[in-house]
Amino acid sequence: MTAASHDPGQTALPEIASLQAHAARLQALALRDLLRDDPDRSTRLSLDAGPIHADFARQRIDTAVLRDLENWALRSGFATSRDDLFAGRIVNPTEERPALHTVLRGVGGDPQLAAAVALERRRMAELAGRLRSGDLRGFRGMPITTLVCVGIGGSDLGPRLVCDALTVTDDFDVRFVANVDPDDLERELRGLDVATTAFAVISKTFTTRETLANAAAARAWLAAGGCPQSSLAGQFIGITAAPEAARRWGISDTLMLTFREGVGGRYSLWSSVGFGVAVACGVETFDALLDGAAQIDRHFRDMPLSDNLPARIGLISVWNRSFLGLPSQAVVPYAERLRLLPAWLQQLVMESNGKSAALAGGEVLLKTSPVIWGTSGTNAQHSYFQQLHQGPDIVPVDFIVARRSRANALSADDDRHRILVANCLAQSAALAVGKASDDPHRFFPGNRPSSMLIIAQLDAQALGALLACYEHATFTAAVVLGINPFDQFGVELGKVLAGEVESLLAGGTGAGLDPTTHALADRLR
Ligand code: F6P
Repeated sequence: MTAASHDPGQTALPEIASLQAHAARLQALALRDLLRDDPDRSTRLSLDAGPIHADFARQRIDTAVLRDLENWALRSGFATSRDDLFAGRIVNPTEERPALHTVLRGVGGDPQLAAAVALERRRMAELAGRLRSGDLRGFRGMPITTLVCVGIGGSDLGPRLVCDALTVTDDFDVRFVANVDPDDLERELRGLDVATTAFAVISKTFTTRETLANAAAARAWLAAGGCPQSSLAGQFIGITAAPEAARRWGISDTLMLTFREGVGGRYSLWSSVGFGVAVACGVETFDALLDGAAQIDRHFRDMPLSDNLPARIGLISVWNRSFLGLPSQAVVPYAERLRLLPAWLQQLVMESNGKSAALAGGEVLLKTSPVIWGTSGTNAQHSYFQQLHQGPDIVPVDFIVARRSRANALSADDDRHRILVANCLAQSAALAVGKASDDPHRFFPGNRPSSMLIIAQLDAQALGALLACYEHATFTAAVVLGINPFDQFGVELGKVLAGEVESLLAGGTGAGLDPTTHALADRLR
């Protein structure tokens, strides 16, 4: 394929030319004027879904843009693609798989599939219950009190985020290890007792090099601490879509939790991959997370595009990236408990839509995924917000904030949540409106777009809804861009080369590797 072979279908769509014309028109309009001249802008450009209220008034859009984006989605087969997703049909044609994450939340799929998923869920809940009640015991007969989850990418980011966001008691100590850097496991194991620590090895494929190397190190740690060989398996839970491979590794059938092949890694939090959440926060909390997501599933499935919140988020992200030419997007939750959201979203959006191959053949004409990044506010204001306000690149921001804070409920005289909310609203206003000044150092250009996502309170329902919202937004963006959001062949080449470099470092010839890799390996050896 050559760079010039663009997706033949996309170039011909009238909405694309029209959206390009809108982009040129809107370059000449300032958000400050749009906001001043239309006091109803927020009302007209806001949508609600489940516990989420989203205000898009500070995006550089108008109703003509939204109409074209929605028409473009319809012409791109949005309705059929969405039906296919919920019906459990193949929506990942390069791997011939469905995408079953909504079925895990009880929405879509057929009764047979739903029954199989319910069984997996029951087993997961039972095992989580055994851990929480102290029924699962280590090799010295003492109850297990710590669970170390070992997994990476989609087998780590979701459960880690949800545990960080929702754990409010010390009921059960759940920790996460992802990096093959030995410091990661070592740090998490510090102070733990071999007799009361169990591991959950989480890997869809059960072949991921980093995860298996960490799991082997964990096994060695238990053995070195006195756990007899015959008891090792009793302290390892396996969570996988490849039970055969897990069995070969040494996971016993009684401690094996499975999920379906059709559940993508970055969409797997809702399956038994979310085990750590059920252990740390309780099965009821995990259920509430799923309920919140299911609310958004039904909204996304049933609402027309004009009222569809996840679709709107997805279409606006494409508008910013592909038509206004803004290469990155920041996500700044004004909620410390959501500090890991940007990391989860990076994998969701960039592994799903960071692609150039069109499903219809050739290359996608438009720029696809933005670079996603961000950290929690207000901390972010004290590091990179300078550049967001006055830097050369315009970065659209998703602000996320909760009306009530859990901690604030404790004290009526504590004004910290009000300070947090005030800062969130102020930053969004400052970016949009800017400030005139004759002094270039003190001039704020404004016209910098953002969305404001508001939830009542950061609880399991709201978090599930938020995550599902971004999942469906990512799907919508993929549909209009004409790409497959469910494969990830882009991660393969590096993995293969890592294997070759590993043998080179261990004394192999590295025959297929380039001279620079050889030179660098020599230096590192
Ligand atoms: O390398 C990327 C990736 O395949 C992700 O898609 C996935 O979430 C992660 O690695 C972990 O894979 P597994 O769950 O099979 O260990």
